[in-house]
Amino acid sequence: MSVDTAAAVAERFRELYGAGPEGVWAAPGRVNLIGEHTDYNDGFVMPFALPHTAVAAVSPRADGVLRLHSADIEGDAGGVVEFRVDELAPESDRNWTAYPSGVVWALREAGHPVTGADIHLASTVPAGAGLSSSAALEVVVALALNDLYALGLKGWQLARLCQRAENVYVGAPVGIMDQTASACCEAGHALFLDTRDLSQRQIPFDLAAEGMRLLVVDTQVKHSHSEGEYGKRRAGCEKGAALLGVDALRDVPYDELDAALDRLGDDEEVRRLVRHVVTEDQRVERVVTLLESGRTRAIGPVLTEGHASLRDDFRISCPELDLVVDTALANGALGARMTGGGFGGSAIVLAEAADVEAITKTVEEAFATAGFTTPRVFEAVSAAGARRLS
Ligand code: GLA
Repeated sequence: MSVDTAAAVAERFRELYGAGPEGVWAAPGRVNLIGEHTDYNDGFVMPFALPHTAVAAVSPRADGVLRLHSADIEGDAGGVVEFRVDELAPESDRNWTAYPSGVVWALREAGHPVTGADIHLASTVPAGAGLSSSAALEVVVALALNDLYALGLKGWQLARLCQRAENVYVGAPVGIMDQTASACCEAGHALFLDTRDLSQRQIPFDLAAEGMRLLVVDTQVKHSHSEGEYGKRRAGCEKGAALLGVDALRDVPYDELDAALDRLGDDEEVRRLVRHVVTEDQRVERVVTLLESGRTRAIGPVLTEGHASLRDDFRISCPELDLVVDTALANGALGARMTGGGFGGSAIVLAEAADVEAITKTVEEAFATAGFTTPRVFEAVSAAGARRLS
């Protein structure tokens, strides 16, 4: 998001609210390289930030009023929506406004003296594509209020508050990956995050320098986390942890997986969930080792293994995602997998730069042949995390 865009968002804010804004902030969407459905199991993830951002122009208010407007989400005609901050209540709002309002609610509930704001939002993060458009909205509002109210919160603390907003206020049982990615990623790096304590390592990730590319293929199949399947997987993982007597599945060591599966007896569904989570944590660690030792191409097969595990064990893929992965691999991709929550959304494809055009074309053709909606394909370059623009 360029400074020009920041100026345009500020201009629109002035048209809507008459004066201001006091500042403009941006927070990105993300793709997850590896580590899927591990975050609510206290495990490892490895997202990186996209250049696509949610941008917020914001001024604080002292009178307890929160006014929200979005250029993209409801369309400009949607108008300004007004709330009283002391009347915000969990699960009272089923619209896009629940994300920014939920952040204000979470900040106030944690004791931060947020007394209102005027907010205008514009986002280039595709919604419902598994690229964390919601987290970007939450984090940009949290960062703006953190600055304007001089709250002094760090990125990981903002991420925790945003997750609480989404879990309790919006009512979606998501983990901590997306909010932390949006708040803490750095350009040119992937974020190796331990979701148990939020300790982080920035891993250099510059595919172009090594002649490779990472494509995002948005299948245009919309997903929604509040719709139940995500929650069912999460509950199944928690059941597995309880049966195994551990706090979280992260505590099942990879080399004790077979013994753990034996102990789960014939509960086939829980066995599959446990197997995915434990092997996925190990895949994240393998990818970190490969990247840190300069063997970037070798991460491809690990990504592909991750897809098979999500498809066969966790059972959250769909025909469109599988078609992207199969077609890309058949046309020379180094690796491919679905990314994000699943049930639609996007896949990522790691490929040699020279193969990108042919892979894109064959994926588009395969979609046309299958009668699927044309996918949106773009190259993902690791971009900056949340920041103030002006
Ligand atoms: C969604 C959630 C994350 C994470 C992923 C799956 O993006 O918001 O917390 O659980 O799904 O890895």
